[in-house]
Amino acid sequence: MRRIGVLTSGGDSPGMNSAVRAVVRTAIHNGLEVVGIERGYAGLIHREFRDMNLSSVADIVQRGGTILKTARSQEFMTPEGRGQAASNLKNLDIDGLVVIGGDGSFRGARALATEHGVATVGIPGTIDNDIPCTDYTIGFDTCLNTVLDAINKIRDTATSHERTFIIEVMGRRTGYIALEAGVAGGAESILIPEVPFRLDEVVERLMRGHMRGKLHSIIIVAEGAGNVLDIGKYLQDKTGFETRVTILGHIQRGGSPTAFDRVLAARMGAKAVDVMMAGETRKVIGITAGEIKAYDIDYALSQHKTIDLDLYKLANILSI
Ligand code: F6P
Repeated sequence: MRRIGVLTSGGDSPGMNSAVRAVVRTAIHNGLEVVGIERGYAGLIHREFRDMNLSSVADIVQRGGTILKTARSQEFMTPEGRGQAASNLKNLDIDGLVVIGGDGSFRGARALATEHGVATVGIPGTIDNDIPCTDYTIGFDTCLNTVLDAINKIRDTATSHERTFIIEVMGRRTGYIALEAGVAGGAESILIPEVPFRLDEVVERLMRGHMRGKLHSIIIVAEGAGNVLDIGKYLQDKTGFETRVTILGHIQRGGSPTAFDRVLAARMGAKAVDVMMAGETRKVIGITAGEIKAYDIDYALSQHKTIDLDLYKLANILSI
């Protein structure tokens, strides 16, 4: 192994830059050359390459987003696109590719390895925390803190106006962000796709709280759990409480990464380089019980990450 490539792909997440920095600097420390590929797989197909040195990753550990830029490439979904990507890697003498992204990006890495023999290692970078074989993805913690800050601010105005607030958070088809932010923010109800719910139960909770003198409420809804505008209207109609809906949107994807995400990114980036240098391929890096490990990509992609139902039950107890 002499030369590796690194790219970021899919939705960006805070800490991706810290991971790029870790990959570049540990690789150079170990005598490897590193090529940065811009705009994910799209840039791989269209030869958007730049040589990386120690200075290319200076002053980025604290920056959100990704200096390499990112994309969701439709072209890479086709065999022709992947063929072009593989031949570009070969022409540049790139022996291995580190892919920082979510499960769609990992599927792309696996396809490159299977169809063209490219050595690939994935690093989980997504705010959604929906990747199996890792307790945390890079960006999740920062996202949670962004959501928490928003909940705190919304609670101020909810209290002043004695209103119910419905806050939609991201997470695609999963409720990891909603659950943890909801617990941390003391939400009165948390609605996630993994746990079936009845809106009438939410109504009952709101009414019970009202009887006890609670004059405002925060309800966190994962984007995959339903339409927040419909939910807001239903709850307002049934309770008679003035209700507002806030969709947090893409602010959840930005911001300076937390210390947790930076350290996680540093450890995962370094591990990815170790794995490559050991001649391993088709791997995904994860952290489980505090330990950074490399998992077989087929295994990782065949697993289903389950939501912590005990935490969900606890949230209900605490918010009663
Ligand atoms: O996967 C990260 C994520 O932010 C999801 O939570 C969300 O559903 C999606 O990406 C939004 O994607 P886009 O930025 O392409 O609209």
